[in-house]
Amino acid sequence: MEIIPLGRHIGAEIRGVDLSRPLTREVRDAIHAAWLDHLVLLFRDQELTQQNLLDVTTIFGRIGQLARPKAFRPPGFDGLLDNIMLISNIRENGEPIGALPDGEMMFHHDMLHAAIPHKGTCLYSVEVPSHGGDTVFANGYAAYETLPEAVRAPLEGKRAFHHYNYGSTQKGDGKGTAAFAQSSHPVFRTHDETGRKAIYVNRLMTERVEGLSGEESARLLAEVYDHAEKADWLYAHVWRPRDLLIWDNRCSMHARTDFPAGERRLMLRTTVEGEAAPV
Ligand code: SIN
Repeated sequence: MEIIPLGRHIGAEIRGVDLSRPLTREVRDAIHAAWLDHLVLLFRDQELTQQNLLDVTTIFGRIGQLARPKAFRPPGFDGLLDNIMLISNIRENGEPIGALPDGEMMFHHDMLHAAIPHKGTCLYSVEVPSHGGDTVFANGYAAYETLPEAVRAPLEGKRAFHHYNYGSTQKGDGKGTAAFAQSSHPVFRTHDETGRKAIYVNRLMTERVEGLSGEESARLLAEVYDHAEKADWLYAHVWRPRDLLIWDNRCSMHARTDFPAGERRLMLRTTVEGEAAPV
């Protein structure tokens, strides 16, 4: 197994591993360790079944539970296994067959609106557009460690409040979900496996810092976002079919670039269950 860094601060490609075959304990542990070191792992040219994808997800922890109507059968699939979701802009009878269908998305940590956000996300590409739809990752440790003192100090030990309302924050197409879940977490999260601190607020979901005036909260958050989204900390992934990415939501955030509405994008997604964030 080879580990090849992708960005200067985030991401590594793992070569020499076929994820459709059973892996030894040693290889699974090495992949898990590489994930903690690099935050985002890429495996190219993987021919995976849904069951393979679920098996791979268990390298990183327990599979995240996903609520979905039992009868849900997207076209082209005999059935989706439990806890696999589709991310897709493909429409049947005018309705997207998957979640997060269209275009650009601002930086976010998956499920930050939940009381216990899922710690990891696996995304496997089935169909990709001719250009765009890249997923861009930012290293939250590096951003935290270089945050100017004047921004960091007033936020240290504070919590921020988040909600899920992609409709108001993502392009405003009027189809967003009204806030159905909300939660508060530390502004800077300590990673439960590495013990390192990372930025844990984002432009898509964070509403405000608790215990600060609205104005102070907005000013400091804007500074954090501008710093955390700097090109220095980023890796932009240009998808090819049969790529598998796994990212760590505790110490990285990600965004998506726009892509042509008339071209199909189809991904399978699983998540890894999280633990309550230590301060
Ligand atoms: C996500 O934010 O989970 C989806 C990312 C993507 O579609 O590239």
